[in-house]
Amino acid sequence: MCGIVGILGRHQVAPIILDALRRLEYRGYDSAGIATVNEGRLDRRRALGKLVNLSDHLVHEPLPGKAGIGHTRWATHGAPTVVNAHPHRAGRVAVVHNGIIENFRALRAELAAAGLAHESDTDTETVAVLTRHHLDQGLGPAEAAFATLARLEGAFALAFLFDGEDDLMVGARQGSPLAVGHGTGEMYLGSDALALAPLTDRITYLEEGDRVVITRDGALITDAQGRRANRPVTTVRLDQATVDKAGHRHFMAKEIAEQPAVLGAALGFHCSPDKTALALPEDLDFTNTDRLTLVACGTGHYAAQVAKYWFESLAGLPCETDIASEYRYRHPVVGAANMAVFISQSGETADTLAALRHVRARIGCSVGVVNVPSSSIARESDVALPVLAGPEISVASTKAFTAQLLVLLLMALKAGQDRGHLDGAQVAAHLRALQTLPGLMRAALDREPAIADLAQGLAGVNHALFLGRGPMFPLAAEAALKLKELSYIHAEGYASGELKHGPIALIDETMPVVVLAPRDGLFAKTVSNMQEVLARQGRVVLISDRAGLAEAGPVPDSLVMPEVPDLLAPFVYAVPAQLLAYHAALARGTDVDQPRNLAKSVTVE
Ligand code: M6R
Repeated sequence: MCGIVGILGRHQVAPIILDALRRLEYRGYDSAGIATVNEGRLDRRRALGKLVNLSDHLVHEPLPGKAGIGHTRWATHGAPTVVNAHPHRAGRVAVVHNGIIENFRALRAELAAAGLAHESDTDTETVAVLTRHHLDQGLGPAEAAFATLARLEGAFALAFLFDGEDDLMVGARQGSPLAVGHGTGEMYLGSDALALAPLTDRITYLEEGDRVVITRDGALITDAQGRRANRPVTTVRLDQATVDKAGHRHFMAKEIAEQPAVLGAALGFHCSPDKTALALPEDLDFTNTDRLTLVACGTGHYAAQVAKYWFESLAGLPCETDIASEYRYRHPVVGAANMAVFISQSGETADTLAALRHVRARIGCSVGVVNVPSSSIARESDVALPVLAGPEISVASTKAFTAQLLVLLLMALKAGQDRGHLDGAQVAAHLRALQTLPGLMRAALDREPAIADLAQGLAGVNHALFLGRGPMFPLAAEAALKLKELSYIHAEGYASGELKHGPIALIDETMPVVVLAPRDGLFAKTVSNMQEVLARQGRVVLISDRAGLAEAGPVPDSLVMPEVPDLLAPFVYAVPAQLLAYHAALARGTDVDQPRNLAKSVTVE
């Protein structure tokens, strides 16, 4: 939520900050702004809507200066307006913020009593006004920022810039990510390494509670107790090529198309060189694990629900799944024999991170299944397993989902082996089957023209239902989520057996009912449920393989999928789920990569 960037540079920074904000726009795109210090003078430009509006504004009113901060916003407190856009300025200080200042109302009242007014509805402006108050009382810039930070409650990543200070920036991290970038005679702050990718690959990740004072010569970091902290400088590998569209019309299209390569590479990484054995970390040991909990939000949660079937069937391991925003406030009964897995593309989702922190000290083992290896969840888990999907820019998660599935399946095989449910030969057989996955994903992608045709039929409706059984049930929910977030069509994913317990009342001749049904052991049951829909003139779209479609009999619409082993069906059937939503969004003319109201990385709760 919200992207922030700061540069103390050698060149004019506004265009460079704008470029960095483009790489952070996935975090929010309600409004954007930049502040710079030019020859000691602090100034700012802000614009409503996407970055292109700020870019236009800067053409008409350029913002000179070699020191600056920038922000792209996902509104929490205060509607998306220019007045609520960051940077917020009060007197000699400008501030950009990602997170929520929970005690801002009390602080605001206190400042009002001291005669200091606010002009916006945001929590962030209070940070600026309070810092101004401290400056007015005679504190130096860094001291004023520190005095403000000491009063703040909630989650924040903050960057401060000061009038009269061409070579100073203050940053702070508490609950929201912030990275320091090291250049040559330049220094940077950014919400993530991606923002700074073309500027530097030398990154220091701030820890919880860290404050940093930056000049062009370097960064002075202090921890939550005010002690000097030595945080390592790491070299990150993110070249520009990984974050462009590579000729595709949208990042989402590119990311869907990347899945065969991503899954092939991840398999290579997590298996032995001859691909007959697993190569997961030693610390991931299920021998004494008697219960597993999988925790995530959104798409990651549906990956967890699919994996639950695998942990039960392949490893005989009791497994439960939970939504992180619920789990973090429950009183989960956990102990030394339990393992909890936190699944997150970004590794920064506030609820998932809070869920990890909620049980980390009490649980036998915490595992982070993440796409961003330097993320907070990766760093704070006992074991971090990278899903290796590469940067995922489109707000709708696609390749990260199937990459999460792959790591979870490999974990289930490891659990089966550790617990004596599978022997080495059985694991090797499963891994052999998995080697066919990239080819099967390519075969599913080849169905795109037929899927695009089906999507035309979805594009005009207001409601849609997706049905599945077994692992296809969470996949139906994932398909519905994709359609909702991309095309704003109301969609639900249901277990097909649940249909007659209520949702069947919705069936009429207008609402599409998309049935995800590979010809597996549950196929006949799913087809019976589909017949119940057909008997009520329901508009069925059956997605199955050739044998399944032949056995099911005539349906209004269908899609022929490749034959797949049962274990691989959730991966392969994710492709039509993603492409249906993508093409429905194209047909409706919605913003594919940046759907309304959403942000990629949800770092507020
Ligand atoms: O970064 P995370 O995987 O933790 O994000 C979780 C959800 O916010 C995310 O999966 C969201 O549901 C996607 N927009 C779905 O496409």
